[in-house]
Amino acid sequence: MNVLITRKYPEAGLQFLKDAGYAITEYTERSNLTQEELIEACQMQDALISVGGNKLDETFFKACGHLKLVALMSVGYNNVDMKAATRAGIPVSNTPDVLSDATSDVAFLLMLAVSRKAIYMHQTIIDGKWDFYDPNENLGIELYNKMLGIFGLGKIGFELAKKCKAAYNMQVIYHNRNHNNKAEQELEAKYVSFDELLQQSDVLSVHANLSSATKDIFNKKAFSRMKPTSIFINTARGQEHNEQDLIQALQQKIIWGAGLDVTNPEPMAKDNPLLFMPNVCVLPHIGSATRETRNAMAAMAAQNVIAGLQGKQLPNIVNKEVYKASR
Ligand code: DGY
Repeated sequence: MNVLITRKYPEAGLQFLKDAGYAITEYTERSNLTQEELIEACQMQDALISVGGNKLDETFFKACGHLKLVALMSVGYNNVDMKAATRAGIPVSNTPDVLSDATSDVAFLLMLAVSRKAIYMHQTIIDGKWDFYDPNENLGIELYNKMLGIFGLGKIGFELAKKCKAAYNMQVIYHNRNHNNKAEQELEAKYVSFDELLQQSDVLSVHANLSSATKDIFNKKAFSRMKPTSIFINTARGQEHNEQDLIQALQQKIIWGAGLDVTNPEPMAKDNPLLFMPNVCVLPHIGSATRETRNAMAAMAAQNVIAGLQGKQLPNIVNKEVYKASR
């Protein structure tokens, strides 16, 4: 069996595939394969492990209907047209749960870095501006007993809420498609409307999947409902906030600060105004970037490949309906 991987793959995942005896092709250039190159490269393959930004759309699935499965090395699957995958009869898996700790750590880190302007303060030293002590300068915001609002309270949001409660006794409100009973019972999280979430949060952290319903949901109108002392955090997908509206909300002091691990586009341009604002911290999409988590993600994607190539249901299937649809 032949398996194509669109990046150099973490050893922990590679080992499973080697042990299973598959012929592995890793694309090791520091670039994304173009769609034409990817389609061409998939022609001799039985399975694809997609790592990073390749868009897998109708054209891809039509041209690669022979694939037995596609395993994503990510929890997010917004790059994949799941309906097209299902129509082509191709099961697609993702890597849930294993990155919840690491990603919620980054949301927590951003919250703290923004509340104390840490990255900007570091830069002032480099720029030679640490020259005087003024008790009215460099002031941040404390997080003790503040209100944490979570947009999309799933596994990552749950872990963030747990940390914020333990560290700062923060109260938790959330807005979701469905109630999260575990968070309500264990963290006393309170379900609120989207508008209440905007109005009541001191820190508002985005964890929802990107979809047509969440694209650009944090826009001028949403920011205008938030507190002038609030911090906006996004570790989910950059397309969920409107960047121009966010810049404006920060410049006009409609909100206090922002922490982003995701941007639109990625990579962000190095002259983006967000990079020069004191109350903003931007990271280059490192939510899952720890050795432990990337190894766990790679192993999980590999195990999905092995299951699929053995004719079994993928343990982390996203488009379950594929098993009902006839090819
Ligand atoms: C994910 O797994 O979706 C992370 O955002 C990394 O892409």
